[in-house]
Amino acid sequence: MNQYNPPRKPASLLERAGEIYDYIPVVRTVESDGSTAKQMPNEPPSRQVTPVTQRPMTVHDGARVMVDREKLREAGFIVPDGPVTGISEEFRIIKRQLLLAAKGSQKRNPLPRGERILICSAHPDEGKTFCALNLALSIAAEKDNEVLLVDADFAKPSILSSLGLEGSKGLMDALADPQLPVENCIIHTDIAGLAILPAGDQTNADTEYLASSRTEQVLNRLTQNNPHRIVIFDSPPALSASPASVLATHVGQVVMVVKANETTESALRDALSLMGGCEHIQLLLNGTKFSPTGRRFGSYYGYGE
Ligand SMILES: Nc1ncnc2c1ncn2[C@@H]1O[C@H](COP(=O)(O)OP(=O)(O)OP(=O)(O)O)[C@@H](O)[C@H]1O
Ligand SMILES: [Mg+2]
Repeated sequence: MNQYNPPRKPASLLERAGEIYDYIPVVRTVESDGSTAKQMPNEPPSRQVTPVTQRPMTVHDGARVMVDREKLREAGFIVPDGPVTGISEEFRIIKRQLLLAAKGSQKRNPLPRGERILICSAHPDEGKTFCALNLALSIAAEKDNEVLLVDADFAKPSILSSLGLEGSKGLMDALADPQLPVENCIIHTDIAGLAILPAGDQTNADTEYLASSRTEQVLNRLTQNNPHRIVIFDSPPALSASPASVLATHVGQVVMVVKANETTESALRDALSLMGGCEHIQLLLNGTKFSPTGRRFGSYYGYGE
């Protein structure tokens, strides 16, 4: 009797990344030797860091600020209440897996601190901010969850400008100043379910502030009165900036963005070795182009470019 083989469901970009980079063995290597060694590549890539501009140091009064939808559209981000696109479909699939890990199910317990998700990558320009913001927009559309997107790229923050928002106080200010409640730095937007915590002013001791015991208390305040909140951190690149590995110690999930055809396996291994502070790491393949269908972000399930 012929056995019926149902058509294989298209793998998500999380699963495809794992296949391409043979990720499972990579994780096993990281876990089995228990290594969290900060192994840097011989020549860490240089990073263009925009000088920190003087930002008006406002604290938010809780009023909702308007997000520039046109800016979102132009940059290829998911537009709230906009049409279904390839990008929005990809992030629907990705968020399901992350939310399942964060919330748990009948079969599995929620991950400890799984509601905190760090979006990282080895090098600059691999799509961390693109993925963090799209993931946040996708989760914000959920009926049962809301999302706080934290700009944790203190040297080169870009979340506010991507949304067309003004600069204001943020996480680093709250870490540096015990008198400043972090809640007062949160910007509530006119996109239902989406709030932003800006990076704040860069200090010359960002990594030390992040590594201090107070950071955990500050981060706990972000969710203590809000069990439905998912917190997404937009990280600096792991191999160019030291805060990334410290941020990994504060989250329950890391999404490691790999840029199709660009991120080398050795860079990925080095980046993963720096993420030893988090046990649950997934790869996300960005900018893919698969032959023969040419599928990539933007051409999924026949929704067109
Ligand atoms: N899948 C994609 N489709 C279209 N544009 C993309 C995609 N991924 C990234 N980009 C674009 O590529 C550029 C670099 O992406 P992004 O800023 O997200 O990288 P990054 O990893 O956050 O860089 P940095 O480390 O410098 O912060 C941006 O202009 C972004 O909009
Ligand atoms: Mg970025």
